[in-house]
Amino acid sequence: MQKLLAWVDQRFPLTKVWEEHVSKYYAPKNFNFWYYFGSLALLMLVIQILSGIFLTMHYKPDTSLAFASVEYIMRDVPWGWLIRYLHSTGASFFFIVIYLHMFRGLMYGSYKGPRELVWILGMVLFVALMAEAFMGYLLPWGNMSYWGAQVIISLFDALPFIGPSLAEWLRGDFVVSDATLNRFFSLHVIAVPLLLALLVFLHIVALHKVGSNNPDGVEIKKKKNADGLPLDGIPFHPYYSVKDTVGVAGFLILFAAAIFFAPEMWGWFLEHDNFTVANILQTPPEIKPLWYFTPFYSILRATTDDLIKYGLLPFVLALTALTLVSVRELKTKGIVVIIAGFVVAGFFGLEAKVWGVALMGLSLILFFFLPWLDRSPVKSIRYRGWKYKTALTIFTISFVMLGYVGTQPAEGIYKMCAQIGTLVYFAFFLLMPWISTYDKTKPVPERVT
Ligand code: HEM
Repeated sequence: MQKLLAWVDQRFPLTKVWEEHVSKYYAPKNFNFWYYFGSLALLMLVIQILSGIFLTMHYKPDTSLAFASVEYIMRDVPWGWLIRYLHSTGASFFFIVIYLHMFRGLMYGSYKGPRELVWILGMVLFVALMAEAFMGYLLPWGNMSYWGAQVIISLFDALPFIGPSLAEWLRGDFVVSDATLNRFFSLHVIAVPLLLALLVFLHIVALHKVGSNNPDGVEIKKKKNADGLPLDGIPFHPYYSVKDTVGVAGFLILFAAAIFFAPEMWGWFLEHDNFTVANILQTPPEIKPLWYFTPFYSILRATTDDLIKYGLLPFVLALTALTLVSVRELKTKGIVVIIAGFVVAGFFGLEAKVWGVALMGLSLILFFFLPWLDRSPVKSIRYRGWKYKTALTIFTISFVMLGYVGTQPAEGIYKMCAQIGTLVYFAFFLLMPWISTYDKTKPVPERVT
C-alpha cells in the first residue's frame, strides 16, 4: 500500500490534498450541533444524485407516459417505492438541512468577512437548488406538477417588455407541454446537478481558504502555537470526521422514519393533488408549491394594492428619511433620493402583480447582500445585544409564518399574516445597517470558550 501510495503521489497530489483539506485541516474545536448541517447537506446531495440515477432508469419523460412510469416505479420496479421515496422525501429533507445550515450562518455571523464569498456561493447554491427542485416537481406529471409549473412560469409574463417572450422561451411552447417536460428533465437530470456539484466544490474551496467560523465568532488563525498551528484548532480528521458520523447516524434515523412511516408527510412532502395525472381542463382548488417555496410564494401573493399603499409606500418613505439623516455625503444622499423616487413612481405606475414578482426576487437578492448590510463588529449571536437577537427571532418566526400561510388560501387572516410577514422580512434586511450599528455588543473573548 505504501508503495502504491508513493506511486500515485508522484503522479497526483493525493496525500497533499488529503492533508491540506482533511487530516491537517484545522477546524475550531468548539463546533456544536449547528455545524452538522454542512456535511448533512453534502450527504443529501449524494443521496439525491444516487436515487435520481436509479429513478431515471425507469422514468419516461413523455407527457403520455410520465405519470404511469412513476406509478410503475412505485408498484412494479423492485424496491422502486424506496428509490422514489428516498428522492421525493429526500428533496424536503435537503431543504430542511439547508434552511438550518443557513440559520446557523445568521446566528453566528458566518457570512461576515472574510467569509463573504462562502456565503455568496452558498446563496447561488440555494437558488440552483430551488431551480432543481422546481423542475423535478414537474416530472411526475401530476396535476399539481402541471399547474404549479404553469403558474410559476407565467409569473415571468408579468415582467415589462421581455416577460411574455421569456415565459414562452422557458416553456418552449405557449402552455406547459411535452416540450417543457423534456427540457425540465434534461436540466433536472444533467445540467443543474453538474452545476450543484461544481458550486459545492467552490463553496468548500472558498471555506478552506479562510477557515471555518465557529459559535464564538473568534478567528482561530489569529492565535497560533510555535509550530504555526491554531491554538483553538483540531484536525478535521479524525475529530470532525467522527463527530459528523454521529450527526449522519442521527439524521439517517429521522430520515428513515419519515421514509418508512410518513413519506408523503400528510401532503407536505408529496401533495394530494399530485396523485392524479395532469389535466389541463381541471385546475386544483388551491395551486400552491411545496413547503420549501411557500415563504417566497407568500411574499408574491401578499403584494396587493393595499400592501403597496398602506405598507410598502410608508416603509420606503421612512427608510429614505432614515438613510438621508444617516449618510453624510451629498452624492450618496442624491443617489438615495433618485432610487426612492423611482421606487415610489413604480408603486403608482406598475401593477401590484409586477411588484409581487419583483419583491419575490428581491427577497432572495437581499440575502446576498447580508455581509454588507450587517455592520456589527461581532459575528456570533452570543456577543450581540438585544436588538439583533430580537430582530433575528422576529424574522425567524415571521419566515415560518410566511411558509405556513403560503400553503393556505390567500384570504382573510392568512392574507393579513402574509402581508405583515412580508413587511417584517424586508425590514429585517433593510434596517440591518441600523440594527447592527446601534446594537450594544459584548466583548468577544480572545480564545474560543
Ligand atoms: C448543496 C448545498 C450546500 C452544501 C453541500 C454545503 C456544504 C457546506 C459544508 C460541508 C460546510 C462546512 C461545514 C459547516 O460549516 O457546516 C459549509 C459551510 C458554510 N456554508 Fe454551506 N453548503 C450548502 C449550501 C449553503 C447555503 C445555501 C448557504 C447560505 C447562503 C451556505 C453557507 C455556508 C457558510 C456561511 C459556511 C461557513 C460556516 C461557518 O464557518 O460558520 N451553504 N457548507
